[in-house]
Amino acid sequence: MKRDLISMLDIKDELKELIDLAMTMKGEWREGLQFTPFKGRTLGLIFEKPSLRTRVSFEVGFSQLGGTSLYLSPTEIQVGKRESVHDVGKVLSRFVDIIMYRAFKNEMMMELAKHADVPVVNGLDDKEHPCQAVADLMTMTEIKGTLKGRTLAWVGDGNNVLHSLLLGAPVLGMNVKAACPKGYEPDPDVVKKASELGKKNKASVQIMTDPREAVKGADVVYTDTWVSMGDEAEMERRLRDFSPYQVNMELFSLARPDAIFMHCLPAHRGQEVTDDVMDSPRSVVFQEAENRMHAQKAIMVRLMGKK
Ligand code: CP
Ligand code: NVA
Repeated sequence: MKRDLISMLDIKDELKELIDLAMTMKGEWREGLQFTPFKGRTLGLIFEKPSLRTRVSFEVGFSQLGGTSLYLSPTEIQVGKRESVHDVGKVLSRFVDIIMYRAFKNEMMMELAKHADVPVVNGLDDKEHPCQAVADLMTMTEIKGTLKGRTLAWVGDGNNVLHSLLLGAPVLGMNVKAACPKGYEPDPDVVKKASELGKKNKASVQIMTDPREAVKGADVVYTDTWVSMGDEAEMERRLRDFSPYQVNMELFSLARPDAIFMHCLPAHRGQEVTDDVMDSPRSVVFQEAENRMHAQKAIMVRLMGKK
């Protein structure tokens, strides 16, 4: 049976193992050791939205594992417009061994995974960004060691990245405090699931509106854009509603003195984060970006049964 990664829930029982594998593979790669289980294999990348990190980290990562990748741009396939999701999944499965899909709609993602005969990896949709969350939890583990009892403070939009972190951090025993403006809270079903996962692992999940309350005493302070891809029509209203949610030095200083700053990038300096926080020695955003590649290599190796 083929395996997909659409939601963090798909890997919740092996999250710790997956992060350990990503860290081991990163160490071996740094030592120059070759591991090429994907010789002769092809990764298909379907993008409905732009990308820097996701495209480059998947392409470079897959080639390090011995394979070749094929980039299909937003104008190329036009999933669901030029051709049905069903037919795209069936046809692509005849050519490639694994598919990464960045989609506008989670329903399309699920549909593609249902009909493709090869593994489908979610490279971001409107509901989740699981590859990002695995890389983020790996980065936190590298810096903080065990995440049990640590606290992640999220400041900003209750979006796809928050959803994946909510479904990942509590699995590792990490508390989550998310401050979102009224009307921009995360999906209540995701919060409910996150709280259940937290209960099992002695971690708490709290959604609030006050960014100061969220950041106070946190080990990690995380923010993301106020205007996600697909939300551009709401730009003006969002910039206004989110202005009290900027992560600046004043807010960041309420966290623990050894707290780190994280952002999935791309960042909008001067909006959700100020330069002094982005460029501070406690900002780990570029280590976090690099770890996208290591995390995804481990994800693909696991999904394809190579480790
Ligand atoms: N963080 C992230 O997914 O970046 P891209 O949109 O550039 O891929
Ligand atoms: N929340 C952002 C993440 C970008 C990587 C978006 O969906 O645009």
